[in-house]
Amino acid sequence: MSQKSLSLFLPCAAGVEDFLRAEVGQTLGRSHSSLSQSQRGGVALMGDQSDVMLLNLHSRLCQRVLIRMAHAPYRSELDIYEVAKAVEWDAWFNASRTFKIEITAQHSPLKSLNFAALRVKDAICDRFRDLVGERPSVDTRYADMRVYVHLTAEQVTLYLDTSGEPLFKRGWREEVGEAPLKETLAAAMLAAIGWEQASSQGVPLYDPCCGSGTIAIEAAQIACHIAPGLNRFFAFEKFDGFAPEPWEALRQEALARIRTSSAAIYASDVAHRMVDFAQRNAERAGPQDMVSKAIHFRGGDALQRMPPVELAAGQAGLLILNPPYGERIETGGFSKAMTEDGQDFFALLATHWKQNFAGWTGWILSPDLKLPTRMRLKESRRVPMWNGPIECRLFKFDMVKGAAREVKAAQA
Ligand SMILES: C[S@@+](CC[C@H](N)C(=O)[O-])C[C@H]1O[C@@H](n2cnc3c(N)ncnc32)[C@H](O)[C@@H]1O
Repeated sequence: MSQKSLSLFLPCAAGVEDFLRAEVGQTLGRSHSSLSQSQRGGVALMGDQSDVMLLNLHSRLCQRVLIRMAHAPYRSELDIYEVAKAVEWDAWFNASRTFKIEITAQHSPLKSLNFAALRVKDAICDRFRDLVGERPSVDTRYADMRVYVHLTAEQVTLYLDTSGEPLFKRGWREEVGEAPLKETLAAAMLAAIGWEQASSQGVPLYDPCCGSGTIAIEAAQIACHIAPGLNRFFAFEKFDGFAPEPWEALRQEALARIRTSSAAIYASDVAHRMVDFAQRNAERAGPQDMVSKAIHFRGGDALQRMPPVELAAGQAGLLILNPPYGERIETGGFSKAMTEDGQDFFALLATHWKQNFAGWTGWILSPDLKLPTRMRLKESRRVPMWNGPIECRLFKFDMVKGAAREVKAAQA
């Protein structure tokens, strides 16, 4: 299919839309104006099957790549049934595949979303039975095909998912601690801080609370030009008429682009168990140990660890972290100074950074809008981002030279 006749929708976390739009433009070599406006929670565009494969393979920011199959007004479940039955599902998959329905709604007047989902399931089964005498079975856990239904007050939209497992599942993160970041959110933080360009200029990056290593591993994959989808399977591989050759050609092109990182990446965590997890995740995240070789992992307390590398005059360094929230922070020398909810951690971190990290820029993802006050630092930027249902800001703090003198004066 060479014309861009597929209507695609790429859902993403709220706040990430503009970064995703830029990523889609870069991946498909298209100007921004050729992509439709980002909607809240995603980006819509026209594309073809090659675009579907490219986006699944290369997107670090979207949750899945959906094909819009129908968009129509409705008033009842019967209308939804008719809309779903008219869709040519049989042009995409056959009756031997399993499928499942996911439904979301905003202001829908219908009483039961489950019943609406059931009617879409019936419509698909009836269409197959009428056409070929057999129907695909439902599998709510490991379905080959996923159909998304979205209802607004008056419109129903049906999508066929080309990704299968959501795209944040890259295939390398097998070991996690508590509150791991989704890979797509880590990638959004890295997009917001301009990491792709910074890494090509050799700017070092350090995550001092790395947990299972998500930020550092995503950063290394970006710096090594490793496509995030190289290590996994996609639903489109089970579409009827799927041609393995063009897909393999895109994978080979992506493999040929991999190179060693120009930037050093550092990651540490106070929990040595987490550092082991992160190390093993990194070993799975790239061919020939490229990712694990790009990251220097260490144990240690973020409040005590000194800069992992000396910055040359005029050179910048990036600190980035998804800190622990609320839980007690068991640190070496500082644990006694902390309140039960870890309140003082940020004040102590700010002091440590001012004293020792001049020239570095710190980026912290936090739901606490008062974080700068707690740290007694003025942020130079705040980027809105959602961590699942939690509204956060990614705060930017510039650690300028001279800040250390202020701290010493205040202590004196
Ligand atoms: C929210 S988790 C980070 C999750 C990580 N981004 C991931 O995706 O797995 C916070 C991490 O901070 C670590 N931590 C807590 N106190 C610390 C300290 N004082 N120094 C360094 N790490 C600390 C915890 O062990 C935990 O792994």
